[in-house]
Amino acid sequence: MKKAPMYTRYAREYERAIEDNIYNARFERPSLLSMLPDVAGKSVLDLGCGPGVYAEILLQRGAEVTAVDASSEMVARVKEKFGSRIKTYIQDVSEGLPQEADFSHDLVICPLAVHYIKELAPLFQEIYRVLKHDGTFLFSTHHPMMDFQSSPSGNYFRRELVTETWDTIGNPVDVQFYRRSLTELFGSITEAGLYISNFSEGIPDKMIEEVSPADYQRLSKLPTFMFIECKKNN
Ligand SMILES: C[S@@+](CC[C@H](N)C(=O)[O-])C[C@H]1O[C@@H](n2cnc3c(N)ncnc32)[C@H](O)[C@@H]1O
Repeated sequence: MKKAPMYTRYAREYERAIEDNIYNARFERPSLLSMLPDVAGKSVLDLGCGPGVYAEILLQRGAEVTAVDASSEMVARVKEKFGSRIKTYIQDVSEGLPQEADFSHDLVICPLAVHYIKELAPLFQEIYRVLKHDGTFLFSTHHPMMDFQSSPSGNYFRRELVTETWDTIGNPVDVQFYRRSLTELFGSITEAGLYISNFSEGIPDKMIEEVSPADYQRLSKLPTFMFIECKKNN
């Protein structure tokens, strides 16, 4: 994985920013959590865990959590906050999940990370392998309609590495991610032996309007993220 400064050099700043911001804390997280199954007593794998915001929620809900990230800074932060209560280690998930046994997890989540992965089919095949037969894979990612606005080629169907400058942490940081068509994304899911069992584009909560009417308008009119639940074709 090419080291992404937002999640390495600025890991602490990122952690602070997503505590209570609009896009992560007030839109992405409630949307994904509304699709989260009951995790009490379940084994959950959190891929691209970042500073462990989801891992903490899973822990509070009684899950046995394994949280992995390619960024050593993020993994160190998860260790610092949760110690042995969460199993955590450094793993570039584009290289697979070699430390996870077959059929070992009830749920795999991957919020806002698959757009950093170039080839999704091998990762989704690994997720299929580590999921129990009745397991669930739940992830969120950028909506292609939003990402297409930054397409260098103007060709929606071409997978492209996009560079954008984000002010998530309060000052501009360049972020690179892959933009891809729905055909490619959905194809990678089905190719891995999974099927889509639930799909959402998120519904912005009215309270966002009180904090930022402009963001509320934008989120209400333009799809920003997608929330996708998958199950195994056993
Ligand atoms: C936008 S953050 C999301 C963090 C967390 N999932 C959340 O929603 O709060 C993306 C995370 O994915 C991680 N990441 C990016 N590419 C990765 C890869 N190839 N393997 C594992 N983690 C990766 C980054 O280090 C970063 O922590």
